[in-house]
Amino acid sequence: MTKNTSGPEFSDFLASRRTTRDFLTTPVPEELIDQLLTDAMTAPSWSNTRPYLVGIASGERRDRISKEFLSRWEAASAALKPGIMGKLKLFITRYGLPKSDYKVFRPYPNDLKPRQQKVGAELYGFLEIPRDDKQKRQAQWGRNYEFFGAPVSLFIFTHSGLGEYSVSDAGLFMQNLMLSAHAQGLGSCAQGASALWAEPVRAEFKVPKEYKLLCGIAIGYQSDAKVNSFQADRLPISEIKLATDD
Ligand SMILES: Cc1cc2nc3c(=O)[nH]c(=O)nc-3n(C[C@H](O)[C@H](O)[C@H](O)COP(=O)(O)O)c2cc1C
Repeated sequence: MTKNTSGPEFSDFLASRRTTRDFLTTPVPEELIDQLLTDAMTAPSWSNTRPYLVGIASGERRDRISKEFLSRWEAASAALKPGIMGKLKLFITRYGLPKSDYKVFRPYPNDLKPRQQKVGAELYGFLEIPRDDKQKRQAQWGRNYEFFGAPVSLFIFTHSGLGEYSVSDAGLFMQNLMLSAHAQGLGSCAQGASALWAEPVRAEFKVPKEYKLLCGIAIGYQSDAKVNSFQADRLPISEIKLATDD
């Protein structure tokens, strides 16, 4: 089969995809979303089982989920502020406490923590948000819950019966989807943040009980906001190549 894309062109294309964290409100036609899904389905899959399902939220459905997320985030972030009242309210009402299908926030292992801290420090530094300005940091993180303004949020569910291989398949699917979006002139942001509270998402779709919410993907056209020119560090391959005995 002939291919139109040369190796170096393809490498450039891959490298030019960057996470989008500010979107225009311009709607994305349903046919275009279907094209992204069709492209995503060309990813390899464990015994071709495709152990994932996708919820597509746009329009009022998107707005309802965002509203509930923002409300829960407000309750959760009140507890992060100094003072006892916010913490007490969260403890008593439990409204805002993470309730995810998969564990979203967990302590980073010691060997990975420096990488997580680096990208955080660099992103907030780029946005000129001081390290100790918790309010601004929380506000920036809170933008996750309006999907950074994106008109569409996809929600990826994986079959719990295949364990890690469902999640791995979903990752391959997501990467194809985000590259397809990039090729179509769309931006995307994978969002673990969108899996923090599963209930408001499950309430919007008919999700079989064995499917668990893994994460969201915000999709839309990029704005020219500064945050979209942030370039996360790309680790050299020497960092991931295992040493050998010889
Ligand atoms: C599964 C997954 C979840 C992510 N969750 C978030 C998120 O909740 N919020 C966010 O701003 N970025 C999120 N990201 C984006 C990463 O921070 C980003 O991919 C990384 O810093 C590398 O930057 P790049 O995509 O521009 O190359 C997520 C990425 C992945 C793969």
